[in-house]
Amino acid sequence: MKFDEKIRKTKGKCKVVMLTAYDYLTARILDQTPIDLILVGDSLAMTFQGHINTKKVTMSQILYHSTVVARGAEKIPVIGDMPIASYSTPTQALRNAKRLLKTGTQGIKIEGNHPNIVQSLIDAEIPVMGHVGLLPQTAESYQVQGKEEQAAELIFQDALELDESGVFSMVLECIPETLARRITENINAPTIGIGAGKFCDGQVLVISDVLGLDDRFTPKFLKRYANLNETMRKAVELFSDEVRSGVYPDDEHTYH
Ligand code: KIV
Repeated sequence: MKFDEKIRKTKGKCKVVMLTAYDYLTARILDQTPIDLILVGDSLAMTFQGHINTKKVTMSQILYHSTVVARGAEKIPVIGDMPIASYSTPTQALRNAKRLLKTGTQGIKIEGNHPNIVQSLIDAEIPVMGHVGLLPQTAESYQVQGKEEQAAELIFQDALELDESGVFSMVLECIPETLARRITENINAPTIGIGAGKFCDGQVLVISDVLGLDDRFTPKFLKRYANLNETMRKAVELFSDEVRSGVYPDDEHTYH
């Protein structure tokens, strides 16, 4: 069974778990875990490149990161995020999506409801993951979306249309849990929430957030499952101390 059909079939049965990865070693570690999907997110702009938003990521950067992640992920399907300005027309979207699939990714994700573009990708049998709610590529600021009735209705309608066009799953980013629940209960594709509460069909987080690498990023939805920031600093401090005091390299770590 194709991976996108498998993801579809999880709806109402088991939660989908997705994490981002941007490099080979992380992909290799994730590949040894029971998660369902790896996303090469354009969030690499912040976590890898140090930008304040995702607006500067280019298609060639996503192609590069997708290539190295796909090399590390032998079992788990990899989804490539289409960066800003890479899917402005159906022709451009199709050309770039095909380039992305050639890197070893198995599906693509695009932000927002663009019926003609999604349709042309799906007609070409490219598995498409939708994304509604907070859309970082076009958002002015990172705030919870759909709090007012009218805004919630627009997001709901976008989700319905995307679902009808045949996306195999849909990211719901930073929306109230009541709206996420309404979308989840009214569409066929599994919803994958980030800051969208517990009623989604699955959850996604950015890998560096889960691992606690960036101590400056503290949104309400984020739960850290490790504190690698501290672990890394302590390891480096110890290495530095041992080099300076002559403890490292000792006999055990020396060729004779
Ligand atoms: O770029 C990204 O990491 C994403 C996730 C937050 C869904 O789009």
